Amino acid sequence: MVATQKIHEEFGGVVPELASRAHQQNIVPVVHQALAKANIDKKLVSAIAFTRGPGLMGSLLVGTSFAKSLAMGLDVPLIEVNHMQAHILAHFIEEEDMETPSFPFLALTISGGHTQIVLVNNYFEMEVLGETLDDAVGEAFDKSAKILGLPYPGGPLVDKYAQLGDPRAYVFPKPKVDGLNFSFSGLKTSILYFIQKKTKEDPEFIKKNLADICASIQYTIIHILLDKLKKAVKQTGIKHVAIGGGVSANSGIRAALQEAETTMGWKTYIPKFEYCTDNAAMIGIVGYLKYLDNNFSDQSITAKARYIIS
Ligand code: KG4
Ligand code: ZN
Repeated sequence: MVATQKIHEEFGGVVPELASRAHQQNIVPVVHQALAKANIDKKLVSAIAFTRGPGLMGSLLVGTSFAKSLAMGLDVPLIEVNHMQAHILAHFIEEEDMETPSFPFLALTISGGHTQIVLVNNYFEMEVLGETLDDAVGEAFDKSAKILGLPYPGGPLVDKYAQLGDPRAYVFPKPKVDGLNFSFSGLKTSILYFIQKKTKEDPEFIKKNLADICASIQYTIIHILLDKLKKAVKQTGIKHVAIGGGVSANSGIRAALQEAETTMGWKTYIPKFEYCTDNAAMIGIVGYLKYLDNNFSDQSITAKARYIIS
């Protein structure tokens, strides 16, 4: 069950206070609907898993408080989940036609709030090898889309138009960042200046060239990500590479990774669309794995807005 929040679109981004109020209103009905749809009585629930962080504090507080109360009320164990770890472990949701990664592997987690390359040694032992120093890659997509006048969240729309355009139509500079870290704020600025200059020459520029602009932006972002992944593979000697997080729904990134199987000799893992953007199943799979490991939390646990995986 998903309670979507149309409110974000209206404001061109997530307004934290509005998001947490909507969470508060939706959480009880959503849980009721999920139980009804699964045809499961709440007495059959073995444990309650919840997102502890990272994320917006208001929304995390709603989920954490609700999960703690529900676990106490049902007298079942409570399991805290790191949202970014869940994006990675979503690969272990068993699906007939999907292969699960073997350890160790590298995970590129790309979402609206994060961009990380993670060394995954096992379910619970992970090390962040590199991350963004400023904007997340999802933000780069969304902010570029905003410059082009597209509604929030613009990532999926950039993807859609990019499929109709020429990725080499325009060249945007790639940032120079040491090691395995990323930076996306410069790209956004160069896109902004480029669009301002072009629309001054021709007010119809965006309209006439939307597909080419989107394709070129997406092409640049994919290259930034792939360059760092190649570096990480070289550095670690690990050729098993997984992607996760909302931006892994991007068709260009999926294709580029797929291609790396033949060009680079990597073994790649690409999640199904429904497990890319935020979903409850990914929290459920971590809950399940931790449950088997007897890894429970007690009632003193608190939400954590900044929560680095380890
Ligand atoms: O993981 P996610 O659902 O939420 C966070 O944890 O942030 O990621 C949301 C991000 C948004 O920035 C959205 O624009 C981006 O994922 N996104 C995409 C695509 N689908 C979602 N970006 C590019 N192409 C897509 N197809
Ligand atoms: Zn996410």
